Amino acid sequence: MNFADTEVVMSLLQQEGYDITTEAEEADYILINTCAIREGAEQRIRRRLDMLRSERRRRPTLRIGILGCMAERLKDQLLTEEEVVSFVVGPDAYRQLPSIMKQVVSGSKAAATELSTEETYADIEPVRLNAGISAYISIMRGCQNFCTYCVVPYTRGRERSRDAQTIIGEARSLFEQGYREVTLLGQNVNSYHFEGAERTWTFADLMDSVAQISPLLRVRFATSHPKDLSDELLYVMRKHNNICKCIHLPVQSGSAHMLKQMNRKYTPEWYLDRIAAIRRILPECSITTDVIAGFCGETEEDHQETLRMFRTVRYDYAYMFKYSMRPNTYAARFLTDDVPDDIKTRRLEEIIALQGEIALENNRAEIGRTYEVLVEGVSHRSPKQLFGRNSQNKVVVFERRNFNPGQYIHVKITDCTSATLMGEPVE
Ligand code: 5AD
Ligand code: SF4
Repeated sequence: MNFADTEVVMSLLQQEGYDITTEAEEADYILINTCAIREGAEQRIRRRLDMLRSERRRRPTLRIGILGCMAERLKDQLLTEEEVVSFVVGPDAYRQLPSIMKQVVSGSKAAATELSTEETYADIEPVRLNAGISAYISIMRGCQNFCTYCVVPYTRGRERSRDAQTIIGEARSLFEQGYREVTLLGQNVNSYHFEGAERTWTFADLMDSVAQISPLLRVRFATSHPKDLSDELLYVMRKHNNICKCIHLPVQSGSAHMLKQMNRKYTPEWYLDRIAAIRRILPECSITTDVIAGFCGETEEDHQETLRMFRTVRYDYAYMFKYSMRPNTYAARFLTDDVPDDIKTRRLEEIIALQGEIALENNRAEIGRTYEVLVEGVSHRSPKQLFGRNSQNKVVVFERRNFNPGQYIHVKITDCTSATLMGEPVE
């Protein structure tokens, strides 16, 4: 999401005549787009600012700005705490960036952190930072699910959906420029809802239309909230070969009690029913997840239920985190962060170890199968190899031959690790 936002910011600044440089020493302004989801993400930004202090001393005209969720969370406080920062701009205020950047030239400080109920940057054509095969399209902003651990509803504001026609237009234009994959992005894409002039659009409607742009354009999406994952969407996915068969369905915990404490609005049974629906309607679909170890009040039995959930679902990939208390969330105000850090670490390590075994077993079962792979580029293992992904979003590495990025080829899987499939191109 931040990557997509950075592309919008780049576009807004290019319109004002600014150029992008990859060399910090050349820059008149350094903008850091930040995440606030866990404390670690913010600490990383603080360390980056420490590194920039000497650069700023050497060049007093350099202006450093903090964008995104950390700016939104801390607002003026960040300007006071970090002498080196000249301006903070939150996720809904990027249109004000050009005027703020002019304002701070004199040495004054500035902040723009109002949240909006309408801003979707629908009219901005993002500058693509990784020109090539695959691009992100932001289809909605904000979140109002208020999971008790999560800072996003406070830093990104109310949920709002972008005009469907502008999304379809952006996807079509990317395809015409040679892109072969788009990923539709939102905090909870299943609650996408847009009232157009002639009709209303659900997420399933939107996917159906984007998929019709061309059978050569792959369509992916993230993230789905289990409470809103509809069978209707699964049927649209089945109807279109080019909608990738991969669903990211964050479980967060396998324990009914923890899910309640987290305000996730589903039970383990509901979640497993959604998994069963995916397996029934899309048998070839891969499933990935997010999980949090050591949330407030988590007992050893709760943790065992998470491990059981992992054994039952057998995820293809998981993003696994230790709970990190975020100020001002419901959990910070009303629950106790009472699982000691060493226990959080041990539980997280157990989940990681189990998931590693499952991913390896899942990948071993792929050996002998043949997949359509979209070629993305040269493998970092060897210049003689290329890599791409199958519909299930698994990375496949294969011999280079005369293949080129953007091409679809068929690859028979011959070997694997827990993270990568290796294979032989076939006719
Ligand atoms: N601590 C740890 N992980 C968190 N996530 C969100 N908030 C927190 C937190 N306070 C995780 C969730 C979410 C992912 C993007 O980040 O698993 O799905
Ligand atoms: Fe955070 Fe929950 Fe919204 Fe995801 S759905 S962004 S975890 S509040």
